[in-house]
Amino acid sequence: MIFINEEKRIFNLRTENTEYVFGLDNENLIRHIYWGNKINNENDFEMDVLCEVSTNDPVYEITPEEYPVFGGLRYSENCLKVTFDDKTRDIVYKYDGYEVDGDLLVIKLKDVYYNFTINLNYKVMEKYDLIERYVTITNESDQSIVIEEIYSGQLHIPYENLIFRNTHGHWGAEQQMFKQNVSYGKITIENRKGVSGHNNNPYFILDKNATETSGEVFYGALRMSGNFKGVIEQTPYGETLVQMGINPYDFQFTLNPKESFTTPPLLCGYTDKGFEKMSHNLHNFAKENLLREGLRPVLYNSWEATEFNVTCEEQIKLAREAKKIGTELFVVDDGWFGQRNSIHNGLGDWYVNKEKFPKGLNPLIEEVKSLGMKFGIWVEPEMVNPLSKLYIDNPDWIYHFKTRERTTSRGQYVLNITKKEVKEFIYNMLDNLLSNYDIDYIKWDVNRPICEGGATNLGENERKMAFDHIQAVYDIVKELKKKHKNVLFEACASGGGRIDLGILGIFDDFWTSDNTDAYDRLFIQHTYSHIYPIKAMRAWVTDCPNFLSQRNIPLRFRFHSAMMGTLGIGGNILKWSNEDMKLAKDMVEEYKSIREIVQEGDFFRLENTSTNNYHLFEYTKDNEALLFAFLPQTQIGHRPVRVKLRNLDEKGMYEYKINGETMVKSGSYLMNYGVNIHLRGDYQSEIIRFDRR
Ligand code: DGJ
Repeated sequence: MIFINEEKRIFNLRTENTEYVFGLDNENLIRHIYWGNKINNENDFEMDVLCEVSTNDPVYEITPEEYPVFGGLRYSENCLKVTFDDKTRDIVYKYDGYEVDGDLLVIKLKDVYYNFTINLNYKVMEKYDLIERYVTITNESDQSIVIEEIYSGQLHIPYENLIFRNTHGHWGAEQQMFKQNVSYGKITIENRKGVSGHNNNPYFILDKNATETSGEVFYGALRMSGNFKGVIEQTPYGETLVQMGINPYDFQFTLNPKESFTTPPLLCGYTDKGFEKMSHNLHNFAKENLLREGLRPVLYNSWEATEFNVTCEEQIKLAREAKKIGTELFVVDDGWFGQRNSIHNGLGDWYVNKEKFPKGLNPLIEEVKSLGMKFGIWVEPEMVNPLSKLYIDNPDWIYHFKTRERTTSRGQYVLNITKKEVKEFIYNMLDNLLSNYDIDYIKWDVNRPICEGGATNLGENERKMAFDHIQAVYDIVKELKKKHKNVLFEACASGGGRIDLGILGIFDDFWTSDNTDAYDRLFIQHTYSHIYPIKAMRAWVTDCPNFLSQRNIPLRFRFHSAMMGTLGIGGNILKWSNEDMKLAKDMVEEYKSIREIVQEGDFFRLENTSTNNYHLFEYTKDNEALLFAFLPQTQIGHRPVRVKLRNLDEKGMYEYKINGETMVKSGSYLMNYGVNIHLRGDYQSEIIRFDRR
């Protein structure tokens, strides 16, 4: 709900449990007042008059502005920096009214001299305790304006000494959470590679010693892929600031007369109930607004089994085995097209390789379909190998600078898809593929960062290419989905390089990481779950020793770890023993019986109260709950852990099986006393199902 006190010039955005308040101050600045629990009395808020502490602490510096622009006596990070046609680089805005449209509040600002408007948009998502912030700038003048920096918003957190959380990591180790105490100075997270990246992720979590179930957490996630930046700063004036949005790194564009530009939205939330509530708010938003309905199929992917040595015969053999264990979707990965025998050739030449598929793809697809499975295929449309025919014929189709060598990475270049003809080529290639073959699933990969971002087609907006690049990817997929409505798209970037809220919804699944080691995955999946929904988290069971970690982990544990998300099998099942195939079949069957709870239920990271390194997770939906318990290595003997469940009906009675014994206990008992889990040995795991009687 949106409340406006016209007299006091105060705006109040109220969600189910929170309130976000700001107003217009005596300097005509849009000043932040409050972000926290719901107060329910909008008239209590006042706009104090701020006095300059000293000439060295000017009023602009101490004013918690909602959207500080570059100009005047402002020296902190700003959200918007422009150069007007006459070279003036200073913005002076005045308040120009507001508009309300349903749950959207628009605060209108206008430069006092230039015909340039800045609309601050606030969308209230009441049910999820979220507010979406984005900004629209419009050049109403007859001269062009150069935009050098534009963030989606600034947030004010009324504390010092907070704890900041985000991800570090690299390929094969995405989603590694780091915690950092915030003190004076700035923390910067960013990506400059064109894809969101394996390192930092476009979100912030700031807490005051919160736990999963208690404590204040301020958080936000950017709905954008690619080059983002976030700055977290504890100021000398008793608060912590966050700015997030498009990375100003190698970024600039010209806003021509009568043109507008809207930033990607930043979804922000507050809770005093810990990280669990934060995740539920974001998960529920994604599940109900971004993700396509329907349960995700159990897939088989051939990459780890065959790599580039794809043949029709071998794929058919794999498909038959995959069917035996209950797989519902068979995906042919890299290697089926062009002269794709290694990383050095093929990308760009999207014809079916005749040596590998002498009669085309149809014999494989027909076999897969006759087995009752769906069919999926891998593509990497944004890329081209220098040896490909596509590149030889169109050397100008890649990002490059005329006088510089073109740098390959993984043996490939990045296509300049901001060029109309390149974008059309990619759309047509995929449209043909989807029209000519019975394909249900596209795994869209990207395996190198962008560099040498020359794109002369963009003229004076060349430095906007990283932003335009990802918009072109979104456009292509959105357009394809209009025509090929039932096709699911997986966002992959050398594993989890494209996990962000910008791409989610346009794509349906994330490939979480190339690291399929079931133990490492527990950490990756744990961190992933802070922001992103379980339903989009693809996880495969692969062979041991794992190709990355060289670790040997029992198949049951590998299955249980992958069953935490949307299950896939990615090992060479032609080599699996009868015993392993039997176990795999049972596990897939079990997954199918619980996947509705896993994919669509509420997810909980449970507390481990023992000194043993148990990893404990719970899922609940309607009258059922699942407890996933993992013990990678036992420590100090075989000690049990008592684990308290979450989100059960206190008065309800739940039946569950533990150590072969059937038990019936009340929800209240299970949530307060808990369940004793006693796993013995290394790499032990259990999924316990609680059914309400
Ligand atoms: C990187 C992906 O993450 C892998 O799953 C696989 O598709 C390879 N690329 C294929 O080149």
